[in-house]
Amino acid sequence: MRREASISHASARPLLEIRGLDLDFGTPRGRIHALRNVSLDVPAGQVVGIVGESGSGKSTLAYTVMGLLPENADVTSGSILFEGKELLKMPAQARRNLLGDRLSMIFQDPMTALNPVRTIESQMIDIQHHEQGSRSEKRARALEMLHRVGIPDPKNRLGAYSHQFSGGMRQRVCIAMALLVKPALLVADEPTTALDATLEVQIIHLLKDLQKDIGCSILF
Ligand SMILES: Nc1ncnc2c1ncn2[C@@H]1O[C@H](COP(=O)(O)OP(=O)(O)O)[C@@H](O)[C@H]1O
Ligand SMILES: [Mg+2]
Repeated sequence: MRREASISHASARPLLEIRGLDLDFGTPRGRIHALRNVSLDVPAGQVVGIVGESGSGKSTLAYTVMGLLPENADVTSGSILFEGKELLKMPAQARRNLLGDRLSMIFQDPMTALNPVRTIESQMIDIQHHEQGSRSEKRARALEMLHRVGIPDPKNRLGAYSHQFSGGMRQRVCIAMALLVKPALLVADEPTTALDATLEVQIIHLLKDLQKDIGCSILF
């Protein structure tokens, strides 16, 4: 796994500091060393990309940062400081509170990230549970964000379900949801792999614009 350098001009401490991270998966056929001695920084307000072949541990690293690892994962050493706090030692409730607040994620497959039996509207309102404001204010923010990510006729689309969107539109909805919470760090795990090349470019540009606007960092 190779990390593309990101140039930091700020002398302030990085938003995310990963040091010496080792992670194994327990399997019936023995332990798989998925991460070995991973260290990287994500400076505040910057984009850091991780490049590596399939199976090199990119998703595992993303899920480790999010605290969304499967049961058979075992972090054997290392540290993950986020806003100066050790994520690996944080109580479960405090960790969960970070999700959808300071930390949010866009997944490779937008279908799995959305609830199929609830409208986009109710999911976009619920994700703002850390924010102030009435339901109608949250609805207005959801509309505005759908507009920003390029969903045509968002007023009429708000009441739709995820299966009523195309793959590209669905990923836009996920981006809108992830950014509605104005996270400090957005973790994006191959958010465009499921899309065709033209769409891929559009989505990357969109993410870059929104990142500048919101001032968040992205771990790509
Ligand atoms: N839940 C799991 N149990 C066992 N092995 C896993 C699990 N998840 C991932 N792995 C293994 O960990 C390695 C890294 O996988 P992954 O993080 O998905 O790579 P990438 O996202 O870079 O393609 C692979 O060898 C994969 O088979
Ligand atoms: Mg992956």
